[in-house]
Amino acid sequence: MNRIIRILMAAAAGLVLTACERPPVDSVQHGYRGTGMLQVYNPRTIAEQIPGNQPPAALPAASSEGPKARDIFQNVQVLGDLSVTQFTRHMTAITSWVAPQEGCAYCHNLQNLADDGKYTKVVARKMLLMTQQINAQWKPHVAETGVTCYTCHRGNNIPQQVWFTAPAQQNGSNFIGDLAQQNQPSPVVGLASLPYDPFTPYLLNDLPIRVNGETALPTGNRQSIKQAEFTYSLMDHMSTSLGVNCTYCHNTRNFATWDGSSTQRVTAWHGIRMARELNQKHMVPLTDTFPANRKGPTGDVAKVNCSTCHQGAYKPLYGAKMAKDYPELLGPIVPAPAADAASAPTVVGMAPAQPATPKK
Ligand code: HEC
Ligand code: HEC
Ligand code: HEC
Ligand code: HEC
Repeated sequence: MNRIIRILMAAAAGLVLTACERPPVDSVQHGYRGTGMLQVYNPRTIAEQIPGNQPPAALPAASSEGPKARDIFQNVQVLGDLSVTQFTRHMTAITSWVAPQEGCAYCHNLQNLADDGKYTKVVARKMLLMTQQINAQWKPHVAETGVTCYTCHRGNNIPQQVWFTAPAQQNGSNFIGDLAQQNQPSPVVGLASLPYDPFTPYLLNDLPIRVNGETALPTGNRQSIKQAEFTYSLMDHMSTSLGVNCTYCHNTRNFATWDGSSTQRVTAWHGIRMARELNQKHMVPLTDTFPANRKGPTGDVAKVNCSTCHQGAYKPLYGAKMAKDYPELLGPIVPAPAADAASAPTVVGMAPAQPATPKK
């Protein structure tokens, strides 16, 4: 009798567990052998993801011959060097990426294409500069793959994954005071009770992303449990955005050390700084340009996080190199080293035996 119950219980446990993720799942060794840096993939999740992450076919290239856009049009501030045909190709492309339903009228007063009366046109011009800056100055993150408007917009006026600063929440009775964003299961953190806005401290402001104190004694050690919870919340977002496990970047022997981490962790380090810069230098200054119905509960502008580009893929659009077909999105900004490049951490490949060169 006992044995039957045990068998039934084992079967029930099996059912409960498989309800999480039905096998078979694949695992791929990602780190140095013996480090347990395995990536667990569910082939069905990936199969579902792939169709939504395909780039649209590139438009046929346009000739650079003929008059320049700046000589023919009246109000071209960024793309003046393109030929009129290249300029028209660019307008056709951004329409299909950002406003396929609405067409040219989404940004333009059709009576006068030079008019800047619609806020969407003003925003689009700034977005153009932002995209150029990402491609020219954030190569430590986006490499030669780069981004286009489609990377974030995917045919939508508003990218599907944006974030707003969460309003401060007080406990109803005010007895406990600040809830520190806890115990309110949020999809941002996989429905865990971790803080649901790790973005304001880390992807807008630059609070240190730390769990481990660097000294044993409390003196000078500013690491707190609260900070740890926000850190894990951000890490959860980063893993979910990329569709990977923690071990894609970390060797769990020691989460903090760079020695033995994967090179992808360094890419992610630059990604954090890039997202900060996009939000601080490009999105926040647009706050007054956006109408009230586009703003968040605290009146802030929609902002970028890892999901805005990645949308569940380890590389946006699974690494499709779309930007090279639109050279006007790659510059003219003179490539300068990305902010903080000098303090960037380095990892020593996958061989933990080598000397560490972490810099924080
Ligand atoms: C997502 C917004 C957006 C959409 C959609 C859009 N445009 Fe534009 N358009 C702009 C921006 C921004 C500029 C200014 C570019 C600059 O300053 O370099 C511009 C400028 C122009 C100009 C130059 C006008 C002048 O005299 O200064 C023409 C012509 C033009 N667009 C045509 C089109 C056509 C045709 C379509 C539809 C196929 C279209 N645009 C769709 C944003 C848009
Ligand atoms: C890094 C991600 C990213 C890239 C790349 C990007 N955008 Fe955006 N875009 C955003 C975010 C975030 C918003 C704010 C959403 C909102 O409107 O509230 C936005 C808003 C806009 C809007 C205003 C839409 C509206 O209805 O309010 C336009 C127009 C736009 N982008 C055009 C472009 C164009 C054109 C490009 C390429 C030259 C581009 N974007 C590239 C992230 C991006
Ligand atoms: C895409 C790469 C990536 C993934 C996936 C990732 N991390 Fe991180 N993690 C980083 C980077 C980069 C930092 C350092 C951030 C900084 O200093 O700006 C970091 C920092 C940390 C820290 C702080 C260590 C310290 O210095 O105190 C902890 C703890 C951590 N991660 C845990 C996790 C956990 C748990 C997961 C899985 C839920 C995870 N990470 C997933 C890249 C990643
Ligand atoms: C502006 C769009 C954009 C944003 C925002 C963005 N990424 Fe990326 N990321 C890319 C592109 C493009 C690549 C592909 C680069 C390449 O081909 O090597 C990439 C590559 C990566 C890789 C390397 C993957 C691999 O297997 O080599 C990691 C890790 C990564 N991103 C982490 C992050 C994290 C973490 C964030 C948020 C803090 C973030 N990214 C935000 C565009 C973005």
